[in-house]
Amino acid sequence: MNSGSNLFLSRRGFLAVTAGTALSLPMRPTRASAIDERTLRAAPGQAQLTRPDRPPTPTWAYNDTVPGPVLRLRQGQPVRITVENGLTEDTTVHWHGIRLANAMDGVPGLTQPPIAPAASFVYEFTPPDAGTFWYHPHADSLVQLGRGLAGALIVEEAEPVAFDRDLIWMLQDWRLAADGRIAGGFGSAMDAAMSGRVGNLVTVNGTAPADQSVRAGERIRLRLANAALARMMALRFEGHRPVILAIDGQPCDPHEPEHGRLVLAPAMRVDIALDMQGKPGGRYQVVDDFYDGLAYTLAALAYDKAPPLRVHPLDLPTALPRNPLPEPDLDSALRQEIVLQGGMMGGGKLAGVGGMMGMSGMMGMNMKGVTMPGMNGTPAWAINGVSMTGDGHAGMAPQFTLRRGVTCHLTIRNETAWWHPMHVHGFSLLLLSRNGAPVPHRQWQDTVLLAPKDTVECAFVADNPGDWMLHCHVADHQMAGLMTVFRVT
Ligand code: C2O
Ligand code: CU
Ligand code: CU
Repeated sequence: MNSGSNLFLSRRGFLAVTAGTALSLPMRPTRASAIDERTLRAAPGQAQLTRPDRPPTPTWAYNDTVPGPVLRLRQGQPVRITVENGLTEDTTVHWHGIRLANAMDGVPGLTQPPIAPAASFVYEFTPPDAGTFWYHPHADSLVQLGRGLAGALIVEEAEPVAFDRDLIWMLQDWRLAADGRIAGGFGSAMDAAMSGRVGNLVTVNGTAPADQSVRAGERIRLRLANAALARMMALRFEGHRPVILAIDGQPCDPHEPEHGRLVLAPAMRVDIALDMQGKPGGRYQVVDDFYDGLAYTLAALAYDKAPPLRVHPLDLPTALPRNPLPEPDLDSALRQEIVLQGGMMGGGKLAGVGGMMGMSGMMGMNMKGVTMPGMNGTPAWAINGVSMTGDGHAGMAPQFTLRRGVTCHLTIRNETAWWHPMHVHGFSLLLLSRNGAPVPHRQWQDTVLLAPKDTVECAFVADNPGDWMLHCHVADHQMAGLMTVFRVT
């Protein structure tokens, strides 16, 4: 296999649990130029998400673990990942946030044929950017992601960056029935038109509630990834001061989150430096309080009794090395606007429908332009008046076309009454402004969260040819029409 995962197994005890399955993968003779080989098999399985005395939850999983194995790749080193489909329905894998060739992007019907049951597909790419990414299916997304198919993808810097420990928290949100099974009713019109399928159990690396054992004085690089279908999160670290180092895998100037509250929308990743300034033996809660009145403890930092690792506090963390992103040229940029429309409660104007959308209004509604067969046949959302539903195989004309190399100045306007983490495939967006105000810390994101009525301006260089998705990462919203395609020629 590769030095990468051996390295992290020896150095990082905490991750060894999820990495266990990776060790059983076929070994390849190591050559200097050897391609890093991995296998992911999607299949039904089960997981102990809650207390050990509760029945396990039947899930769908990669390599029998929930979340799937942590794929640790190296910046600039080619990888070949064979995906085997052990499910009874089509699947694909999308490498969320990785800039790669269009044919490797994992969108069924758009960039590749779906992987049929018992079939497999070989993905090959060379990650240009170091950082925290993730992988997930792009077929029947709501169900496949909601049943557990997701894993972290870490691209290590070509030159290692020093931390005492490097940890990842994959955050997943489950809607469980009383018997511990995953509740049915995926894609209900209610979820689709409102906040999406928010669950009733959040797990950290597949378990809840989770204790993270730490040692006083150490500096941890904690990679947070929100792999939930729909749940927004806002994390507070009791007694600690996290410093944001990277957003969506892309390094930024180190800064503390506003009001100490780290907002993490579905599909977003944030890397933080966390100095363990608590007391040996102490226990500090990590709380998610995104939704008013619904705060809960996500995890706890549980200090062992060992004396502090260092006596003197460290200097503030320095910036991570930047990735080789092409710099937008705003003067020559081509302007595009994306307007998000639909949803319940005055959610913007859907063409031909008018502002106020009620549940009855959504049923069997016809939108101007094309009406696609959506969830329950009822597209609830639209981008610029068009509802593209499903996972990307709708075969629609692209919303806009960019000549290769041009800078696109993209305005995203949320006319709706709901939050939307808007995600673009294949590119990273440089944030320019939010509601007219410049963004304080220069940052690149592949998933940009828009509050109700927000307008965000961003820019990217269209340096990678192909048809690329742009969609809300609340899976219900995506499936019900909040998705589009643009083309780079
Ligand atoms: Cu995370 Cu279209 O994907
Ligand atoms: Cu993506
Ligand atoms: Cu949305």
